[in-house]
Amino acid sequence: MTIELRQVTDDNFTEWRRAVRRGFGEHVHPDDIARLRDHRVEIDRLVAAVDSRSERIVGTAGADSYSLTVPGGATVPMAGVAYMTTSVTHRRQGAFSGMMTRLHESARERGDIVSGLWASQAHLYGRFDYGLAVSSYNWTIDPRFGAFAHSPEPVEPAEAGSQVYFVDAEEAAVILPDIYEQMRQQTPGAVDRNAGRWQYGLFDEERVRDGASALFFAVCEEGGEQTGYVTYRMRRKGDSDMGTLQVEEQVSTTDTAHAVLWRFLLNFDLVVKITAENRPADDPLWWILSDPRRLNRKSHDSLWIRLLDVVKLLEAREYNANGRLKIGVVSESQPEVAGTYVLDVEDSQASVKKTTEKPDVIMTPGDLAALYLGGTTPGPLVEAGRIDAVAPGSLARLHGMFATDTAPWCTHYF
Ligand SMILES: CC(C)(COP(=O)(O)OP(=O)(O)OC[C@H]1O[C@@H](n2cnc3c(N)ncnc32)[C@H](O)[C@@H]1OP(=O)(O)O)[C@@H](O)C(=O)NCCC(=O)NCCS
Repeated sequence: MTIELRQVTDDNFTEWRRAVRRGFGEHVHPDDIARLRDHRVEIDRLVAAVDSRSERIVGTAGADSYSLTVPGGATVPMAGVAYMTTSVTHRRQGAFSGMMTRLHESARERGDIVSGLWASQAHLYGRFDYGLAVSSYNWTIDPRFGAFAHSPEPVEPAEAGSQVYFVDAEEAAVILPDIYEQMRQQTPGAVDRNAGRWQYGLFDEERVRDGASALFFAVCEEGGEQTGYVTYRMRRKGDSDMGTLQVEEQVSTTDTAHAVLWRFLLNFDLVVKITAENRPADDPLWWILSDPRRLNRKSHDSLWIRLLDVVKLLEAREYNANGRLKIGVVSESQPEVAGTYVLDVEDSQASVKKTTEKPDVIMTPGDLAALYLGGTTPGPLVEAGRIDAVAPGSLARLHGMFATDTAPWCTHYF
């Protein structure tokens, strides 16, 4: 028996999709197979690992085409890796590794300069040179302790109410994408959402609600401009129950919209718990609340990235300080990426080339990926023994050049 990697076609798409969800312990509703095919996937980017004896699909992989915002606001083409499973019947025979290699090769051929993914387990992708580029927080807060001590402008409950209005699902489908698009252009780590992704994401039939209400949508408006939105569900049993408000997504393009929408969320009666997953690492709510300890935050890894073209990527982002730095990248698995890169930064832009000179700092491609979007400073990576700052003063230079004003955030899960 051998495991062959084949491109998915419309003939085996249903079998492939069933195999993907079986890998995560779920059955698929037939309508959801068509929904995914119509709105989300690019079929020529999907891979099936097939057992040559049984001719059955035993492994699945794929990539979606994204545009990733990098520090400074430029966007770069990214292969969004997803759908990775190997059937329990064929585990640990290299199917996953083979499919990852296939996806990376095809991403390079298509012109993607980075690949990114969300990991089901945090130890799976380091071996493929992915670095943890974006971290975020899952929140819970009791709104009865949601008083504000600060806000960008006075946000009294009554004033907040006058800036926020509810919209229905049809209006939301028109209003939300523009607000999201503005946010993603100014947020490192954010990715684009095309019409299909919106349609897929706003799908809201009973079976996707996990016992909660249908989605509610509220929009913030400032001076005639729509500057933020929140989508949420309620979990309550009967009119007198004290329930949970589950924020699905809260996006804003101004500091005021952020404060106004959180004032709105924290004003609800009959709610004793608000949950919000995947909030930005530097979300200002912590600094707004008069009792920040009430905001429970659990950190988790969100976007992992792999650098496919180091020169293009280093030239795409902006830097915080001028100067020269030689970054040695050590990689056995990617000889084309290994080497020393010299960055000459002037007016926030780097010109980058390979050099035979001695590096100032040495790291793996995964650690450079972790630094790239500004999701971590280099100090902890040096302390962890991951980055070797060999030249005197090189850690301070690396820190100063790669520092960003905002932490990266990827609110789009894929
Ligand atoms: C994770 C998964 C795809 C691995 O598939 P696989 O075909 O067995 O993986 P491979 O045989 O190619 O193994 C590649 C390497 O990863 C390691 N590895 C794979 N899964 C691992 C796991 N769960 N824990 C630790 N190591 C793992 C293997 O030991 C191997 O290491 P090596 O190269 O040092 O020998 C598979 O177990 C699976 O489908 N899990 C459930 C779904 C899932 O979590 N998918 C990932 C979505 S992000």
